[in-house]
Amino acid sequence: MPQIPEEIHELTVGQLSARSGAAVSALHFYESKGLISSRRTAGNQRRYTRDTLRRVAFVRAAQRVGIPLATIREALAELPEERTPTHEDWARLSEAWRTELDERIKHLNRLRDHLTDCIGCGCLSLESCVLSNPDDAFGQAQAGSRLLPGGR
Ligand code: FES
Repeated sequence: MPQIPEEIHELTVGQLSARSGAAVSALHFYESKGLISSRRTAGNQRRYTRDTLRRVAFVRAAQRVGIPLATIREALAELPEERTPTHEDWARLSEAWRTELDERIKHLNRLRDHLTDCIGCGCLSLESCVLSNPDDAFGQAQAGSRLLPGGR
């Protein structure tokens, strides 16, 4: 990734893309979701402050571990004056997200373990297929087709 000289305090979208590794379209998307912001020049071109690089790194790292953009946006919005996340912010937030991530991994492991029973089956039964009804969400309360139109 190309280095940006220290004396440059604002980046074009191309420079931000090249340095962060995020596609220009991704940067526009992040901006539309309020994750990063820019100012416009007289010629209506975007300019990003240098610390946007750290915000983009933060967003991409969080995305890589499966954190939804809405959750990332909430985390960034909670920072005082929406400042750029520091090392401490990342340490605190990533610790909180680890619990959520552990739960998801546990759930996916359970589904993977049960997938063996489903390979080559195709029944997708609400009574016996764990993939079709992973938590048996309705089976404990009541039997029958109550979710179908006209059901009890
Ligand atoms: S598809 Fe038949 S048990 Fe899951």
